[in-house]
Amino acid sequence: MRAARIHAYGGWEDIRYDEIPVPEPGADELLVRVKTASINPLDVKLVKGTVQDRFPINLPYTLGTDIAGVVEKAGPLAARFAVGDTVFGRLAPMKGGGFAEFAVMPAIDVGLAPKSLLPGEIAGLPAACGTAWEGVFELGKLKKGQSVLVHAGAGGVGSYAVQLAKLAGAYVFATASGDGLQIARSRGADHVIDYRNEDFVQVCREVDLVIDTIGGATQERSFGVLKHGGTLVCVTEAADGRKAAEKDIKTHRLVHQMRGSRLELMAALMEQGKLTCHVDSVFPFEEIPAAIARNATRQAKGKILIHMGS
Ligand SMILES: NC(=O)c1ccc[n+]([C@@H]2O[C@H](COP(=O)([O-])OP(=O)(O)OC[C@H]3O[C@@H](n4cnc5c(N)ncnc54)[C@H](OP(=O)(O)O)[C@@H]3O)[C@@H](O)[C@H]2O)c1
Repeated sequence: MRAARIHAYGGWEDIRYDEIPVPEPGADELLVRVKTASINPLDVKLVKGTVQDRFPINLPYTLGTDIAGVVEKAGPLAARFAVGDTVFGRLAPMKGGGFAEFAVMPAIDVGLAPKSLLPGEIAGLPAACGTAWEGVFELGKLKKGQSVLVHAGAGGVGSYAVQLAKLAGAYVFATASGDGLQIARSRGADHVIDYRNEDFVQVCREVDLVIDTIGGATQERSFGVLKHGGTLVCVTEAADGRKAAEKDIKTHRLVHQMRGSRLELMAALMEQGKLTCHVDSVFPFEEIPAAIARNATRQAKGKILIHMGS
């Protein structure tokens, strides 16, 4: 099978398309024929080698973590799944393997898609919507009537966080710029802040929760919009504990944990028309370097998809 691999850390122009054996699923695993994959900023970091400490990988490494496809083979302990089922999920970053014709996934991490949803509709969910879900519900514990500020409300994680926060019944502020303003609004944000021309600290006051997908100065300044006792969910880097203690802010450093059952809850919402994936762009398998380059601009709106063409 063909697989998009890196043989050394560097740039996406060095990604190679290699012919490698189809992997064999273990007893509790599935072999999935990949139909659509999606790009995450982590793919950029893995290619560059900037996350070697957290995600030590073996080279050559087949890129790709988020996929949707069809079950080709199921191990004996993965009997809940049948050949031909449409499934989706995230491969462990240290193993990768998603940007290939076939991928092996532990069945426990896989979501079974409703029959009405196509791989192209669900491939953008796993890491981005999973992270948003953990931030809004599991760590943020957002409730009806509360307020939240979502940074990068038109981005991969943010565009889902806006939708989930609205489903929770919260008042949603979101930062974005350019076309992203309208995208964040169309996902349900009540108040959109143009971060290039407005200061979010002057606009938001006393929110219950901030979902920070940016870090640095954006994260530090987010303490200024939280109410006493509020919650800061940090997606990119841990928060300053001293600042948090001053205002009695609960901070969480979110590290995404895959869960198949959570994926199925997302797909159910999507089937009901309550959750959508905003697609930035679709690239063919042969153009993965260009897709990763697009993500590296940090200006993508929603998700970048890879169509495998199989
Ligand atoms: N901890 C974890 O487990 C975990 C999981 C998933 C993602 N992450 C990390 O979370 C970050 C976000 O991921 P993502 O997939 O959402 O990224 P993304 O989709 O690539 O983010 C692009 C978006 O960021 C927005 N943006 C850029 N600079 C901004 C700023 N200063 N203020 C507000 N918005 C800004 C852009 O908005 P405009 O185009 O509107 O300007 C664009 O829409 C990445 O660093 C990723 O690695 C971590």
